[in-house]
Amino acid sequence: MEDRHRRLSVALVGCGGIADAHLDAAARVGARIEVTAVVDPDRERRAAFVERTGAPGFADLGDALDRAGDRFDAVDVMVPHDLHEAIAVEAIRAGKHVLLEKPMAIDLEACDRILAEARRRPELVFLVAEQSQFWPDVVEAARLIREGAIGRPLFGRACYWDPGVLVPGLAGDEPVPWRYRLDRAGGGLGIDGGAHWIRPLRMMLGEVEAVVAVSGRHVERMEGESWLQALLRFRSGVSATFEAFASTEVMAPAELFRITGTEGELVIPGPDFVDAELRLHNRAHPHGEPVLAIPRGREDSYGHELADFADAVLDRTEPAATAEESLAELRTALALYRSTSSGRWEPIWD
Ligand SMILES: NC(=O)c1ccc[n+]([C@@H]2O[C@H](COP(=O)([O-])OP(=O)(O)OC[C@H]3O[C@@H](n4cnc5c(N)ncnc54)[C@H](O)[C@@H]3O)[C@@H](O)[C@H]2O)c1
Repeated sequence: MEDRHRRLSVALVGCGGIADAHLDAAARVGARIEVTAVVDPDRERRAAFVERTGAPGFADLGDALDRAGDRFDAVDVMVPHDLHEAIAVEAIRAGKHVLLEKPMAIDLEACDRILAEARRRPELVFLVAEQSQFWPDVVEAARLIREGAIGRPLFGRACYWDPGVLVPGLAGDEPVPWRYRLDRAGGGLGIDGGAHWIRPLRMMLGEVEAVVAVSGRHVERMEGESWLQALLRFRSGVSATFEAFASTEVMAPAELFRITGTEGELVIPGPDFVDAELRLHNRAHPHGEPVLAIPRGREDSYGHELADFADAVLDRTEPAATAEESLAELRTALALYRSTSSGRWEPIWD
């Protein structure tokens, strides 16, 4: 029977920027987790999380498993992309449920290896952390589209403008961050924060079929693309533009999403990733009235992804998306990269 007081014991693996967001939001939304170990080779970051959680700290996952493996049933993996595969596989082999930050890995072969490991342990929950699937404005927009609030969808626009929030270090007065290196991150904005724009497009418009893209690098220290313009074609025949751009300069505010249909438009305003807001423009809402406004709605989504994970483990509920379903963001990003080289439309699926 479901017991809302039961909590999932979790080891945080990687105590960097996103770990803060996970913990803050999990506390706000009341996710049923309890941090019982923290892991990070960086002594200072580890110490900060030991102090914050009261849990013991370890320099690597192997050490945590050896010395405190019976203290946690799950791991929340928040490390640089090139380490995702090794750490996820190690955790699954040790019998731990895994929530792994996006992207699952930096190429599809590594993802296949992780998924094969997860399939060998079907009693374990393995999910990819993609918080945008819980953005309330996106969830509501997808529902309104299904209900026909804007008629038949024709095309969408998505704009990911990053002032250094999801890709910190743009200012350049510190050592080059791992995510600016191709060998560590697997790409630039598309494979990284871009996932949070691709998932909502999928939720609102369906599965992506093919993409064509151009990209460039205006941030010298970032080896991957620091701007990207793409056109996504969906199986339904609908299309969407997707733009990504990193800059700390002053820019005009951009809408995160605009979905245009035969009878109106839905707009998710930007530019920040904190508050959720949705505006509907149609005959019943001629002035684009807000149909949803939730302070911190986007920021709290990190907590909802942890709640979704904990519920899936503790109550065996269906998660919002399986790991396989979450792979489409990475597939899309990799197809975008193929297209910037080939200059052609590239399919997402084989
Ligand atoms: N969903 C989002 O909005 C979002 C935002 C930012 C980052 N992320 C994802 O979170 C992950 C981490 O990104 P970040 O911004 O927190 O990076 P970060 O550099 O701030 O933190 C990464 C941490 O991992 C630690 N680490 C390195 N090797 C380790 C190991 N072997 N074991 C344990 N810890 C290790 C580092 O010392 C560092 O503290 C990435 O997958 C990234 O794409 C997601």
